[in-house]
Amino acid sequence: MKPIILDVDTGIDDALAISYAVRSQELEVLGITTCFGNVTVEEATRNTLVVLEHLESEVPVIAGAGKPFMRTPTKGSTPHIHGEDGIGNTLKGLPKRGAEEGNAVDFIIDQVKRRPREVTLITVGTLTNLALAIRQAPEIVELVERVVVMGGAVTVPGNVTPYAEANVYADPDAADYVFRSGIPVTLIGLDVTMKTLLSIDEMDRWRTKDSTLGPFLADMTEFYMGAYERFYPGIGGCALHDPLAVGAVIRPDFVRGDRMRLQVNLDGEALGRTTGMPDAAGSVTVCTEVDASLFLEHFLSRVC
Ligand code: RIB
Ligand code: CA
Repeated sequence: MKPIILDVDTGIDDALAISYAVRSQELEVLGITTCFGNVTVEEATRNTLVVLEHLESEVPVIAGAGKPFMRTPTKGSTPHIHGEDGIGNTLKGLPKRGAEEGNAVDFIIDQVKRRPREVTLITVGTLTNLALAIRQAPEIVELVERVVVMGGAVTVPGNVTPYAEANVYADPDAADYVFRSGIPVTLIGLDVTMKTLLSIDEMDRWRTKDSTLGPFLADMTEFYMGAYERFYPGIGGCALHDPLAVGAVIRPDFVRGDRMRLQVNLDGEALGRTTGMPDAAGSVTVCTEVDASLFLEHFLSRVC
């Protein structure tokens, strides 16, 4: 089993990524850390605990950053994409358990140090928790197995501006800090995630499952697909951004990329743009190819 920490801003596709990770026996989920992004960090923590309750999972949840690494927030909540509650307006009540004591940054540092070169960190929200962890304990750069980041748009347009992807745009300084730190990163950006598609028909089949998980995930995903339809008329489904980052850890052969040096625009019209320069010694592998049908089949076999 691969030990992982999943860092989330739950969010609908984060909820799908959590379900995929928890339902995959190849992964040992050491903990789920939360940050602001799609929603506030408090809402992301609550939503994560709600999703885990549906999964009947006791994985620890540790709250993290509520604001960007350096600047005042540039991105608020996204009710038009993820609903008023962040999970497609499916929230029925508060989770039965709460988050663990302590904070996400200390948890990441502690887990990585306990198991040198073993722990993979999967980030599917802003890179704030990781940037704070590297600043506090720079030695983790050498001690982590690798970081798989859902974020960025290197060869394709952005999704919040023509240049920038949402997770990088929400905290560009954190992303820049992480990419420059030398920590080994596999970048699962819009370059590959926009090539994945969960169709309305596939999502509808979840409703026929007899557990409560299927209808719960279907209801929130239907909301997400509604937003996709408004942004990309006729698309007939949604991209699986955050789940692909989990898939790439279970099955690295789902994606292929090239080593690069990555830079993030920190001001101006192109704020949050990720520019890659080919460099065999670069610390970031930017994925540009994905076997989307193999990934989708695998994802569906694990979730619902
Ligand atoms: O750009 C896609 C990313 O932004 C996903 O992580 C989604 O959850 C949002 O945070
Ligand atoms: Ca996310």
